Amino acid sequence: MKNILVTGGAGFIGSNFINYLVDKHKDWNIINFDKLTYAGNLENLKPSENKENYCFIKGDITNSDLLEFVFNKYEIKYVINFAAESHVDRSILGAEIFVRTNVLGTLNLLEIAKRSNVEKFLQISTDEVYGSLGTEGKFSETTSLAPNSPYSSSKASADMLALSYEHTFGLPVVVTRCSNNYGPLQFPEKLIPLMIINAINNKKLPVYGDGMNVRDWIYVLDHNKAIEKVFENGKIGEVYNIGADQEMPNIEIVKLILKKLGKSENLIEYVKDRPGHDRRYAIDSTKIQTELNWTPEQKFEDAIYYTIDWYLNNKQWWERIISGEYQNYYETMYSNR
Ligand code: NAD
Ligand code: TYD
Repeated sequence: MKNILVTGGAGFIGSNFINYLVDKHKDWNIINFDKLTYAGNLENLKPSENKENYCFIKGDITNSDLLEFVFNKYEIKYVINFAAESHVDRSILGAEIFVRTNVLGTLNLLEIAKRSNVEKFLQISTDEVYGSLGTEGKFSETTSLAPNSPYSSSKASADMLALSYEHTFGLPVVVTRCSNNYGPLQFPEKLIPLMIINAINNKKLPVYGDGMNVRDWIYVLDHNKAIEKVFENGKIGEVYNIGADQEMPNIEIVKLILKKLGKSENLIEYVKDRPGHDRRYAIDSTKIQTELNWTPEQKFEDAIYYTIDWYLNNKQWWERIISGEYQNYYETMYSNR
């Protein structure tokens, strides 16, 4: 059995990752370690919760004592670090928790992983560490880091710490940097779920600036399949970019969502731009495609419709979140476990 600590596994990407892999790799013993912040939701893990090779521990990656205990108890030899504060807008409102979790939390994990002779430490990062592009070009793994938001700066710091632990101490670190994800279970503060839910509820769709900022979109399962490949075959000390060559200006996505839901474009409201708003992201994923034989499988035009349908069919999931009941519910359900 491979004992794998998956941090942040109750969030959007981490829970999709666990639900995808728990049956596929019965020899992976998945220990999901998550603080259950506003973004963590154990309901996401219903398909995994009774599986023998899965367990959940509520905890904060900045808590050294608890992590030390978990590494010893479960004889952790592999780490996949998804845990993070992940929303740019929140990082603009207050950067401190981003530094605490994303930087100090990652450092804490690296230290304990070093002491525990971990055999692979996979740091899940983002293309936002490369900063913003003009109309031309793409980010490759050798593009200089130039993060612009407190969020992306904290992620860039974590990447550099992780790679420094490989260089200095020989900790077997690999880093992935992925573009914007979409799909089921994404917290409705991010563009796509927020717009779908507002449109369903006939509320205004707040588009920042001129709506022409471009993101490079990837379906969450494609990202998770790439992480699986990197976890199994990625070279130590390397960075792998992950993306699906699917650039879209925000306004086009918003219009597509409205069309699919049969709603009027009058719901669109152009609002004040996000401070420091990165203009364009685009990722070159040639390296992972050629070296690790990964290719994205989902086309945006299919997977976005599937995603919209998922939110239409899972109103209970997001109604509880947006009504605020959710937090109390989970505190009562799980804090005493
Ligand atoms: P998310 O916000 O949905 O989930 C984050 C999870 O981390 C939550 O379950 C939360 O409870 C947990 N967490 C937060 N602070 C913690 C702490 N101190 N200790 C333990 N757990 C903690 O985020 P996501 O969208 O699933 O992103 C997961 C990872 O992927 C992040 O590292 C993010 O930077 C990266 N990433 C995200 C995207 C994207 O488009 N969402 C793209 C590229 C990379
Ligand atoms: P977001 O989902 O927050 O991801 P990121 O900022 O990490 O790329 O935003 C995606 C794009 O959508 C980004 O250009 C900002 C824009 N956006 C809006 O126009 N309105 C919104 O309400 C939100 C949340 C984002």
